[in-house]
Amino acid sequence: MNKVIIAPSILSADFNNLLKDIKAVEEAGAEWLHFDVMDGHFVPNISFGQPVLKCIAKSHSMVNDVHIMISDPFKYAPEFIKAGANILTFHYEACKDDKEVFQIIDLIHDYGAKAGLSIKPGTPIQKVLPFLYSLDLVLIMSVEPGFGGQSFMTEVVSKVVYLRDYINTNQIKCLIEIDGGINEETAKIARLAGVDVLVAGSYLFGHDDIKERMDKLRI
Ligand code: DX5
Ligand code: ZN
Repeated sequence: MNKVIIAPSILSADFNNLLKDIKAVEEAGAEWLHFDVMDGHFVPNISFGQPVLKCIAKSHSMVNDVHIMISDPFKYAPEFIKAGANILTFHYEACKDDKEVFQIIDLIHDYGAKAGLSIKPGTPIQKVLPFLYSLDLVLIMSVEPGFGGQSFMTEVVSKVVYLRDYINTNQIKCLIEIDGGINEETAKIARLAGVDVLVAGSYLFGHDDIKERMDKLRI
């Protein structure tokens, strides 16, 4: 099994000391920083947007892994890439058809970022298959998008297993990321199922043993 990538979600960080929390996860060995954008329309919560990303994107050396849970990804994709997104992941459910999904993937690549496609727990994994040769990443949600601190939905594990088998069989270069309710126990389950990247928010932030916690996600 390859070394798993850890992407701490700053949605659970201390916004009074954001830079301090970002440095803490960077020093603890995180390779990516997960940035959850919520518009209060596609998901029932509002988080933060381009101005915050612009401010923090260059304050660390991790990959800026931006997850946009918004209704109009085509309109806003360029702005998030200009603000510093290295990977921009949008939702399948926010697109009107497969044509639009391909258009957004192309748009993200045209602006120089890597393209990720995310699916909610209730969306069948087969929906992402047509895009795999164009995508850099598939983000499988293990919670309903909108909030940190929720419990891992074990029913999504079969989606990871299916996608890992499909990617390996067809020798496709596309990473699998999982997001929601990741802790020491669920990280093991997700890694055994075949993920490459673990997003973790409330398991890491708000604790004084971030390094120990992060190391436990890798064993
Ligand atoms: C939920 C977000 C997740 C969330 C993860 O909509 O996409 O990234 O912040 O937080 P935890 O790890 O606490 O579930
Ligand atoms: Zn996320």
